[in-house]
Amino acid sequence: MKSQRIAVAGGTGGIGQHVVDGLLEVKEKYSLHIIVLSRSASADLSFAGSSAPVIAVDYSDSTSIEKVLRENQIDTVLSTLSSHDPETFMTIQSNLLTAALNVPSVHRFSPSEYTHDSEALAESIPFLSTKVAIYEPLRKVKAERGSSFEFTSFQTGAFMNYFALGNPKPDGAKALGHLAPFPFVLDLKNRKADIPGDGQRRMVFTAAEDAGKFIAAVTQLDKWEERSIMKSDWLTFNEIVDMAKDLVGPIDVQYNTLEDITARIGGSPPSMANLYLFIYQAIIKGDYEQKRPFNVNDSVDVKPISMKEFLTKWWA
Ligand SMILES: NC(=O)c1ccc[n+]([C@@H]2O[C@H](COP(=O)([O-])OP(=O)(O)OC[C@H]3O[C@@H](n4cnc5c(N)ncnc54)[C@H](OP(=O)(O)O)[C@@H]3O)[C@@H](O)[C@H]2O)c1
Repeated sequence: MKSQRIAVAGGTGGIGQHVVDGLLEVKEKYSLHIIVLSRSASADLSFAGSSAPVIAVDYSDSTSIEKVLRENQIDTVLSTLSSHDPETFMTIQSNLLTAALNVPSVHRFSPSEYTHDSEALAESIPFLSTKVAIYEPLRKVKAERGSSFEFTSFQTGAFMNYFALGNPKPDGAKALGHLAPFPFVLDLKNRKADIPGDGQRRMVFTAAEDAGKFIAAVTQLDKWEERSIMKSDWLTFNEIVDMAKDLVGPIDVQYNTLEDITARIGGSPPSMANLYLFIYQAIIKGDYEQKRPFNVNDSVDVKPISMKEFLTKWWA
């Protein structure tokens, strides 16, 4: 049950464009039909000599999405949607699922996960409960439809691209890929590290470019697991700081206890503005501990970049 006619919802966005790039790279090889859903039509997205049209849908109206999926005989819907407003995010992603389930050709759906494991993290990072909401309906549909419907959650870890933020090389801005800037732990431009805990927790990191390649390869698997777990590397922050020191020189390292982070969050309610501090808390508590195997790395032929290769590429 491989994927051939694929719609990427939110494919004009940060991670979405990496998913589209990964698919376009193998479009010819696997004879894929790829479309990008967006709130507004725009020029085709192109990569590696292939392109995909950007088709307008109204995410507030599932029949508008359904029409496009039906007209294109889509078999796989990949959500890379995001919104700063939690209610909006849940509504638009739920409407996308409703539309997908109404189209007989659709047999695969992937919600917008792109984190370690939202179900394991939601208690520490309240924002992530917006991602969790879709798993109950997905499991229900899977139970009803059996092998004619599959879903998977693409679990990536943190994007290592953020560790090249502020890179001064002439093409340094390219290190972020399509992602929006998100200051996180390392500020190598200013040789600073703001470490959650004692830096000994091991964490999964993925380059956004690798995530795109991994996800494209997963669309060509015969069977989808409920979780598709990928890594480019798996390291402690202390190991990463040691690698970075060899490249940029001494780094001013600040370690933070749970109490330090709680004080920094202050009394404000959870918001995207201090999302990174909630991530820090979850790291300190061990919620990012990797408990399941990297089943994507084990099943596809993609060679990811290591943290050392990534840091050397941008900071040597
Ligand atoms: N693990 C990590 O380090 C990490 C980092 C960043 C993001 N993520 C995750 O990756 C996923 C995608 O995030 P992203 O940063 O790539 O998303 P993004 O670029 O902010 O948004 C993705 C797309 O959603 C579409 N969209 C539809 N309705 C929207 C609305 N009402 N408001 C805003 N956008 C709307 C937009 O496409 P149109 O304008 O074309 O409609 C937008 O380009 C999310 O699940 C996010 O949590 C993970």
